[in-house]
Amino acid sequence: MFAQLLSATIEHLEELKTKGVRRVTVNPDNLQSLMQESTPQSSGIEHKPQMSPFTGKPQQKTDGREAAIEHLKTEIGQCAKCPHLAASRKNIVFGIGDIYSPLMFVGEAPGNDEDRAGEPFVGRAGTLLTKIIETMGLSRDKVFIGNILKCRPDTPGVEFGNRKPTADEMKQCLPFLLRQIEIIKPRVIVTLGATAMEGLFQRKVAITKERGHFLEFNGTPVMPTFHPAYVLRNNSIQTKRMVWEDMLMVMERLKLPISQKQRSFFT
Ligand code: URA
Repeated sequence: MFAQLLSATIEHLEELKTKGVRRVTVNPDNLQSLMQESTPQSSGIEHKPQMSPFTGKPQQKTDGREAAIEHLKTEIGQCAKCPHLAASRKNIVFGIGDIYSPLMFVGEAPGNDEDRAGEPFVGRAGTLLTKIIETMGLSRDKVFIGNILKCRPDTPGVEFGNRKPTADEMKQCLPFLLRQIEIIKPRVIVTLGATAMEGLFQRKVAITKERGHFLEFNGTPVMPTFHPAYVLRNNSIQTKRMVWEDMLMVMERLKLPISQKQRSFFT
C-alpha cells in the first residue's frame, strides 16, 4: 500500500515537473502520516514472510538454489539431444512452482496445450491435477510440477493430439529431471501414471499394482498414482477414491493437517 502511494506521488510530481512546476505545498500533517507509514513497524504486508502450508512457519528460502535452477533452465533451453523434438517444440516445459517445496509432482511429457503455454499441466488433465492439489489444502505455487520429458513428443503431420514419449526420449531427458530433484530436494515425489514411473525407474510398470505404495528413488519416497488424464477417461468414483487415498498417504508423510471431511472424500 505504502509503495503504491509513493509511486503515485512520484508520478504526480514528475508530471508537475514536466509542466514547469518547481514548488509544491504539502500539508505538514499529511507529510507526518506518510513518514510514519514508512517506518519498519508499519510497513504493511510487503515484508511479511510467507507461511509454509507444510510447516505452518515462515517459509525459509535461503539456500540460493535459484541460481542452480536458472543454470539448468539455460542448459535445457539449448538441448537438442532429440533433434526431432527440438525441431518441433514451441516451448520447453521446464516445470513450475516452488523450488523449495517438499512436494514434487512428475508427469510424463507436455502435451499440445503445455507446449503452447510453456507450462506443465495446463490442459484438462492439468485442471484436475490443480483440483487435487487444492483439495490437499495446497496450491500449484506451493508445490513443484514437472515432467520426465521437457519437450512435447512430436506428432508429425498432425497438429493436434499427443503421443506417449518413447523409452529412448525418456532416457535422454531423465538427467534433467534428476538434476531438478537434486536441486529441489523434495521430501515426497508423486508420479502421475505408468509412463512417468517407467521414465523415472527405467523399467516396466503395472500402475494398478504399484499405485498406493511408497517406493524409494535415490532415498526420496515416491508415491505412484494414476495420471489425471486416466481419471478423466475412467471417471469412476472408485478410481477417484484410489487417487485420493494415495494423496492422503502423501499428506500423512508430509505431516499436513487432514480434516475428517478430507478423509471421507469419494467414499
Ligand atoms: N500430461 C503430462 O504428463 N504432463 C503434462 O504436463 C500435461 C499432461
